[in-house]
Amino acid sequence: MKASSISFSVAVLLALVGMVWGITMAISQDHSTMPAHAHLNLLGWVSLFLFGVFYHLHPTIDGGRTAVIQVAIWIVGTVVLTIGVGLVHSGTPAGDPIAGIGSLIVVAGMVLFGWIVVRRDQNAGVVDRKPMAARAK
Ligand code: HEM
Ligand code: HEM
Repeated sequence: MKASSISFSVAVLLALVGMVWGITMAISQDHSTMPAHAHLNLLGWVSLFLFGVFYHLHPTIDGGRTAVIQVAIWIVGTVVLTIGVGLVHSGTPAGDPIAGIGSLIVVAGMVLFGWIVVRRDQNAGVVDRKPMAARAK
């Protein structure tokens, strides 16, 4: 499966969970878990969808295993971070280390994404330095 397809479908799933969470907060008038809702939506919907757009725009990267690993790391990190932050804000101190581990996984996912972007730029530089005649072939 392509990284962009995974990104788009999981992003929609996480958005639905985040929105149901938001509606539940609004109905119950208990906004205590708001930071977990916010991060689920921003990491799981917005950021993941943006990764999907990037991969969709770069089909050679989209088809590779590195992109799938990057997206998988991000999804796992988002879920772990959300559970941890949700527990912390519902008064369960055990959520603290879980949130910490989740944040490190998410950072690792972003570092890998940064590496993918830089490598792509370097490869584009190699292509650009080719003479026009060579590029046209
Ligand atoms: C059905 C959809 C949604 C509902 C009912 C909902 C509901 C809520 C509620 C009740 C709060 C707490 C507000 C407060 O206590 O100040 C909140 C906060 C927040 N939500 Fe949502 N939400 C929804 C979708 C989303 C989506 C799609 C995103 C992001 C793309 C999002 C991002 C945020 C953020 C960032 C905050 C924190 C805002 C702040 O710092 O004050 N929400 N939401
Ligand atoms: C390693 C990743 C991240 C960590 C550890 C982190 C941590 C935090 C913390 C500790 C807060 C304060 C929460 C509170 O008031 O109790 C916060 C707030 C916020 N963060 Fe993050 N964050 C991360 C990534 C992101 C990303 C990628 C976005 C946006 C795409 C984001 C958007 C926000 C927003 C909008 C708020 C204010 C709403 C809220 O209080 O939840 N964060 N973040």
